[in-house]
Amino acid sequence: MCGIVGYVGQRQAKDILLDCLGRLEYRGYDSSGIAIRDSNNDINSYKDAVRVATLQENAPPLNGNMGIAHTRWATHGPPTMVNAHPHLDCTGKFAVVHNGVIANFQKIKDLLIAEGHTIVSETDTEVIPHLIEKYYNGNLEEAVQNTINVLTGSYSIIVLSQYESKLIVAKNGSPLVIGITESDKFISSDVPAIIKYTDRVIYLEDGDLGVIVGDNIRIMNYGKEIERKEQQVGWCKEEIQKEDYEHFMLKEIHEQPRVITNTILENVKFNTSFAMDGVVQDLGILACGTSYNAGLIGEYIIEELTGIPTRVCFASEFNHRRTVHLDEAIILTQSGETADVLTAMKTLKSLGVKTLAVTNVPGSTASRIADRTIFIKAGPEVSVAATKSFVAQLIVLYQMVLSHPSVDPAMRKLLRAELNQLPRKVEQLFESESQIVECAKYISTYEDAFFIGRGINYPVALEGALKLKEISYIHAEGFAAGELKHGPFALLSKGVPVIAITAQDANYEAMLISIKEVKARDAYVIALANENDEIIGKFADKVLKIPNTHKLLSPLMNTIPLQLLAYYTAKFRGCPIDFPRNLAKSVTVE
Ligand code: F6R
Repeated sequence: MCGIVGYVGQRQAKDILLDCLGRLEYRGYDSSGIAIRDSNNDINSYKDAVRVATLQENAPPLNGNMGIAHTRWATHGPPTMVNAHPHLDCTGKFAVVHNGVIANFQKIKDLLIAEGHTIVSETDTEVIPHLIEKYYNGNLEEAVQNTINVLTGSYSIIVLSQYESKLIVAKNGSPLVIGITESDKFISSDVPAIIKYTDRVIYLEDGDLGVIVGDNIRIMNYGKEIERKEQQVGWCKEEIQKEDYEHFMLKEIHEQPRVITNTILENVKFNTSFAMDGVVQDLGILACGTSYNAGLIGEYIIEELTGIPTRVCFASEFNHRRTVHLDEAIILTQSGETADVLTAMKTLKSLGVKTLAVTNVPGSTASRIADRTIFIKAGPEVSVAATKSFVAQLIVLYQMVLSHPSVDPAMRKLLRAELNQLPRKVEQLFESESQIVECAKYISTYEDAFFIGRGINYPVALEGALKLKEISYIHAEGFAAGELKHGPFALLSKGVPVIAITAQDANYEAMLISIKEVKARDAYVIALANENDEIIGKFADKVLKIPNTHKLLSPLMNTIPLQLLAYYTAKFRGCPIDFPRNLAKSVTVE
């Protein structure tokens, strides 16, 4: 994880770097630091185990128009000032920020110590400036190339040196992008950090080493000069403003009607279908976390509407399987940078399995590895908890399935019409937000909560629980309602909140029975139910009415109140909603 930024141009680097760094905190936020090269060519740095806002308050004046900065998600060593980046060599002439994991750092560290280097941190990163110092012979570019030649693992790095007025960047496995204006160059792990300054970017590829001197950018790939095309980012800077919302998460939940419309409109222009050659017997969906939950809903609708056998796998588990039998795989990853997902994609590719990536980030690594990519139109998602990207992934999945030739034409027509109605219905749902706030107040006083659903709404239960636990720190679990009596019942006690997700489908009666059973154990049931449901009020303690939609689309309508429920519960508990502890948005380590 971790976020890195660099700047070289005509302005003061400090303000720009800290501004960009603040927008990268979703990648990690346990420590931060900055290093600037001043007009005497000295490197001045400041770092601490604090978030960017505090760094900004405490940092001394650092003058200069070239620098690097870092926000950390600890992997090697706890969040401390010493472990924070930038890391410098013993002489203080070379400073480095790094995202990724250097797999062979211990071996290098032992060698460097034997050669007389003093290594002060527990990080894998610190060996990099020491190696650069060791290899420096009057040519920074050469020293960095020699350094990366001995590194294994994943990295994107930015190097600043007292000796030469340039920034050197290198990438292998972790993302890195260069933003361009006539007079400034920005380097960043992700586009949202720099979009305020420019929408012209160059995405670096694995093996790239870039040299940025004034206006000039030169890129080598494994030592050979190469041209990387400048691209225009399809996002605008307004999308990363919080506007009047207290948190990005609430803003992003409220953006969903627009996101649904944009995603539908964007993808009707393309052929979004899959498994078209008629020989797909074994379709896979690979993903992690919230994207995995979207995949489970995808599995349900693909099998229901096309009959194609589908399996959903955690990418992290898939990577440890010895045999793989898939004809085609859909890869769900909002960031397009999740390390487990990328490893799985590379394995699939090496086995000749066709991959179709569904991602939110143009230029992301997943989009470059995949045979085909469909972009969801969620716009930048800043809050660590995925909300609008989940719903946009579902919209794409529905569109993909509906464009498959085996779907019954009448059903296709009906569901497409229903999809078009969704933005209005989600707006309608927001009108009853105060009832969700009431339920959240109740849940916020408990340390456990359970979510239950059946059929297509079972993954919604999983997603509701994931959202609640990650931002409110309440222990939350999602269960297939029929499984309760096979163990989870033991967890029920008086008053404990159980959120029952229902829809007007074949599972409805069974859900009522599950609610009855839960009530018999004195738990407190909050039911999500169709607006026309007159029965459920007799079973549950509290009912949240959901605007009516087709039963196959019910996960879309049921997920949004659960996002709000998690949000308000976390708010009652005073949690740092956009930046939950120990988590990061882009999980670039396995
Ligand atoms: C939860 C969340 C994570 C991500 C997971 C996969 O709110 O955001 O569970 O869904 O880390 O990320 P992507 O979709 O970027 O591969």
